[in-house]
Amino acid sequence: MATLVTGGAGYIGSHTVVALHDAGREVVILDDFSNASRRAVDSIRGLTHRDLPVVEGDAGDADVLAAVFGGHRIDSVVHFAARKSVAESVRDPVGYYRSNLGSVVELAAAAVERGVRRLVFSSSATVYGSASSLPLTEESETVPESPYGETKLMGERILADAAAASDLTAVMLRYFNPVGAHPSGLIGEDPSGEPENLVPRIMQVAAGRRDRLEVFGADYATVDGTAVRDYVHVMDLAEGHVAALDADIAPARSRVYNLGTGSGTTVLQLLAAAGEVLGSSVLYEMAGRRPGDVEASWADCTRARDELGWRATRSLHEMLTDHWNFTHHHP
Ligand SMILES: NC(=O)c1ccc[n+]([C@@H]2O[C@H](COP(=O)([O-])OP(=O)(O)OC[C@H]3O[C@@H](n4cnc5c(N)ncnc54)[C@H](O)[C@@H]3O)[C@@H](O)[C@H]2O)c1
Repeated sequence: MATLVTGGAGYIGSHTVVALHDAGREVVILDDFSNASRRAVDSIRGLTHRDLPVVEGDAGDADVLAAVFGGHRIDSVVHFAARKSVAESVRDPVGYYRSNLGSVVELAAAAVERGVRRLVFSSSATVYGSASSLPLTEESETVPESPYGETKLMGERILADAAAASDLTAVMLRYFNPVGAHPSGLIGEDPSGEPENLVPRIMQVAAGRRDRLEVFGADYATVDGTAVRDYVHVMDLAEGHVAALDADIAPARSRVYNLGTGSGTTVLQLLAAAGEVLGSSVLYEMAGRRPGDVEASWADCTRARDELGWRATRSLHEMLTDHWNFTHHHP
């Protein structure tokens, strides 16, 4: 039996495919390559020494899913495939609802029909409201502030309802801020457009592709005025998916888990750590707050530790070293 990984050629998906392979699972990748290069598949195959099956197609297309489920014996699904830009979702909300929710609905339908036992869904810390007290637990209020965030919360609800009425169990993983790369430097974050996230932008400065970093917001009520996030190594996240596929969540039919480290880092603290890793400081300038950014966000990961037996083990230093190793080797 195999695990279907939608979006398996993308950033978190590719690392998860490798982690699933390392855990002894068969994997089938479904990706439309809208935000991934085919080189990523070559690298995954190089790392796993396997000619993993890859289907090119839209995870929201019922015919594509029928062909994938018809051609492989699939007992579990990890659903990464989605558009993920907050800013783009504000400009094209209907496109985001159609794409991100269309794939959830079609996958849920196919999974229920085919008797799939478990579906793991990529959700996000962006579902939490900015006024919630910290750290954020799975019970914190959810108030998404963008159409992208809404698609994640609605996706969770659709899957919870599908699981409640079938043999499927659904596990929603709310990622905090994924950073880093496989230590080999063969796979990593390879954004095709302008990255919105901080670490890829820092790496662009380090690689000489950007003059300086704009730090959005210096007047937050934090230790140094800059925004706080919970950065988590993508390899830790990948291992969280292996745990989520195996975990016994009974009697629940679906369950939500935070995946983070449980500690927050400001932008200036991150820049200092990046300077140490890179061996030279990163040029930056202060800019105004960016609309939609929250002041501070970090996770309480007690539930994932207690129920999935998972916790993040890699340090900020490792995240930045591995991220730079990949960026440096993929100009
Ligand atoms: N990276 C983050 O900061 C972050 C944080 C929280 C949640 N997430 C979620 O995690 C998931 C993976 O994120 P990522 O950073 O790896 O993104 P990514 O863009 O690198 O990976 C997504 C992959 O899905 C593919 N894809 C997109 N739409 C598709 C479709 N309709 N059919 C088939 N393939 C499709 C893309 O080509 C890409 O390979 C997404 O659902 C994202 O919303 C990401």
